[in-house]
Amino acid sequence: MSKMIDELKRTHSCGELTAADVGKQVVLFGWVHSRRDHGKAVFIDLRDRMGITQVVFEPRFAEGAHTLAGDLRLEYVIGVRGTVESRGGNVNPKMKTGEIEVHVTDLEIFNKSEPLPFLIEDEINAEETTRLAYRYLDLRRPAMQRLLMTRSKINQLTRDYFSRNGFLELETPFLVKYTPGGARNFLVPCRVAPGKFYALAESPQLFKQLFMVAGFDRYFQLVRCFRDEDLRLDRQPEFTQIDVEMSFVTQDDIFAAMEGLVALLWKELLGVDIPLPLPRMEFDESMRRFGNDKPDLRFGLEHIDFTDVVKSHAGGGVPLFEATLAQGGIFKAIRVPKEYALSRKDLDELEKEAKGMGSMGLGRAKIGEAGAWSQTPFAKAISDDLRLAINAACGAQEGDLIVFQMGRPAMVHAVLANLRLTLGKKFGLIPPYGSGGQWRFLWVVNPPLFEFDEESKTWVAAHHAFTRPHDADLAFLDSDPGKVKCYRYDLVLNGFEIGGGSIRLHDPEVQKKVFQTLGIDEAEARQKFGFLLDALRFGAPPHGGIALGMDRVAMLLTGASSLRDIVAFPKTLRGTDLMTGAPGDVSDRQLKDLHVQTVKGA
Ligand code: AMO
Repeated sequence: MSKMIDELKRTHSCGELTAADVGKQVVLFGWVHSRRDHGKAVFIDLRDRMGITQVVFEPRFAEGAHTLAGDLRLEYVIGVRGTVESRGGNVNPKMKTGEIEVHVTDLEIFNKSEPLPFLIEDEINAEETTRLAYRYLDLRRPAMQRLLMTRSKINQLTRDYFSRNGFLELETPFLVKYTPGGARNFLVPCRVAPGKFYALAESPQLFKQLFMVAGFDRYFQLVRCFRDEDLRLDRQPEFTQIDVEMSFVTQDDIFAAMEGLVALLWKELLGVDIPLPLPRMEFDESMRRFGNDKPDLRFGLEHIDFTDVVKSHAGGGVPLFEATLAQGGIFKAIRVPKEYALSRKDLDELEKEAKGMGSMGLGRAKIGEAGAWSQTPFAKAISDDLRLAINAACGAQEGDLIVFQMGRPAMVHAVLANLRLTLGKKFGLIPPYGSGGQWRFLWVVNPPLFEFDEESKTWVAAHHAFTRPHDADLAFLDSDPGKVKCYRYDLVLNGFEIGGGSIRLHDPEVQKKVFQTLGIDEAEARQKFGFLLDALRFGAPPHGGIALGMDRVAMLLTGASSLRDIVAFPKTLRGTDLMTGAPGDVSDRQLKDLHVQTVKGA
């Protein structure tokens, strides 16, 4: 074993020695970050996760250590003992340890390193695939270490905050029974129950409600969740929630608890004061102005609905407008003011993006003199009245461009919401990632309880069947389900949904009605949610909760460009781990034990 580790203890990290330590005997451990060998003097930047310290080897400090230092190469792991000395006139003001260096008397090489696939530096141009394949080296880079140290701090502050406020940290199972609704689950075959499967919990939802029924009153958990979804920049198949549930509360109580946490995190980690209470917006307003329920409020380019204008002109002579009206479609636009020029090529690219999202194309009209339209196939057919009315509805002036979509509301909203973000970035109104110093938090509240599913022509739960409807809307449960609003809320930051939750439905009578609207009969309800329905009959307190996406919070707080940067060992967009090779093959024997057969070539 190493003499230095056995006999000496590390006295300091590589990020802490200053002029106040001059004269001290110190022991430092770390990695060779860089080396300059001037023959008589060898300079090494020694790095650990706390920083870098310059250590110097000269024969006059110790002959043996100086000779051995000639063998050092990048990323060797070493231990040094020596004396802290002032750098005199060579102070490096950029480094915390820049005033001093360590004159080394003892050196031990703990381990050598082969040449690395990329340098351990903040700015590297290695492909992300290489970084992920050697993630343990990627994580050695100071920038990545800072990200994960921030993540650790978020966890600690969160635990401390909830514990201080009387919440219990309780655990829930990962291997659970499959229940329908929500995200697609990963399934796990059960060896001891042939042909049966566990689901990996997509969230602790049902269990945290059962904690409330059990009387635990205030629960939180930093919990891993698993979802077999199509992955995106802000999604991982396994991710962490800051999960919370409270009894005897209103929506306002839950908001206050979460706002306290948010304000604490931003203050402690960034020194930023977030004004409380956070603003709120109705779901309907968010859809109307931004086309989705997670608006980025850092910039304008809001959506303008001109359906009524087209209606009142009966389509204005444009066959496509008339057909859209006949099918119950809507019309929405974004006005691009004249100072933001878009070239023909830009517009073609935007159109491609729109088509990729199921649109027929990107409607556009350049506003000319006296409100004339150009650059659009509609210019000829459209009546003067409708053209001028649309210009007026959009507030469009000469030189402006309006881009628009028509058709099914879901498609129009999705395309224009996406377009708004693309334009915001293109015009430099928001940075490609990171906050740009603006923290626009928003609660989006009071969405509808049900959505109409065009495919099955039935009402489905927009979130889940256990969300409490507004009392005033209960009458609509039978007559007009689309009108029923509920106590669900999302917390949004700079266009990202960072959390979501609801006040739960604890009244069995209302629950029954909701199931009726969803077309779920009693037998089916029992089969799907029997244990929860039972629990609700045995004295369930009024309760509600929320979960924050901890990875997204960390990504936004740190200004990371993707969720992958803030997850220590992330998966790629294809769900693979490039370092370990997961998901991998298993043997026929293992499959047999699990009573599972794979279909080759499927
Ligand atoms: P929800 O499904 O809205 O609510 O999830 C809560 C938050 O978790 C984050 N999130 C994700 N983060 C990374 N990768 C993913 N694949 C991913 N999916 C979700 C989001 C989201 O806002 N049980 C309910 C909460 C409740 O009602 O109390 C739930 O899971 O930031």
